[in-house]
Amino acid sequence: MSKRNGFIIAANWKMYMTTSEAKAFVHSMEPMAPDGPELILFVPATALAAISEEARQKNILVGLQNMHWEKEGAYTGEISAEMIKDAGGTQAIVGHSKRRSMFGETDLEVNFKVRTAQQNGLVPCVCIGEDIKERESGEYHKVLLRQIVGGLIGVRSAPLIIAYEPVWAIGTGTAATTEQVSETMGWIRRVLIEQFGREEGSAIKLLYGGSAKPENVAELAVLDNVDGFLIGRAGLKVDSLKQILDRIP
Ligand code: PGA
Repeated sequence: MSKRNGFIIAANWKMYMTTSEAKAFVHSMEPMAPDGPELILFVPATALAAISEEARQKNILVGLQNMHWEKEGAYTGEISAEMIKDAGGTQAIVGHSKRRSMFGETDLEVNFKVRTAQQNGLVPCVCIGEDIKERESGEYHKVLLRQIVGGLIGVRSAPLIIAYEPVWAIGTGTAATTEQVSETMGWIRRVLIEQFGREEGSAIKLLYGGSAKPENVAELAVLDNVDGFLIGRAGLKVDSLKQILDRIP
């Protein structure tokens, strides 16, 4: 059975793309078909307002890579949910591994952000994932459980996207194996079902991230519990993003 309908391809542009580059990128994308994969672009804050209208016309969803949980205030350098919406965004990444490791984001902060996003009608894409030591020691379920339970206290099952991104696969060029993705994402699904019940827990979109690229998306996309990809490097070029969209079975 085809998985294309409703499959999510999300590109995390990180600190790449000036506003003019972002505009050119969206300009060269075809409109997304309503019965195909959904495309989400997580762009730098400076580019959001400049691309959101053309993206909307092309059925491309847009959002930011982070947001603050407060409505407003003297939070120098931060961006609120209201500001994302005002700039035309509908989505926000929360708890990306780089935000956790480089900027000290905690599960509690992730939780504030996820709840704030939902209260404001934004779709939060919550990233979880273990580092190499936690994978090799076999402790990774414990780490993921802490991130899920801590990040999702008081959170509704919708709108919500969860991205499993093993830290050791991000930016390395080598994705987790199909066996690792299958086992870990099946386990995450069971945790979500325990937390939200069978119907709601099964409906949450689960993305895989970590060196997803044109060469490996087809074999990963067919796995149970893979409902999409969160893509870094391979989402920065129109050609490779188009190839990824084309290769979803
Ligand atoms: P990558 O990044 O695809 O370049 O590994 C993924 C991410 O950081 O979300």
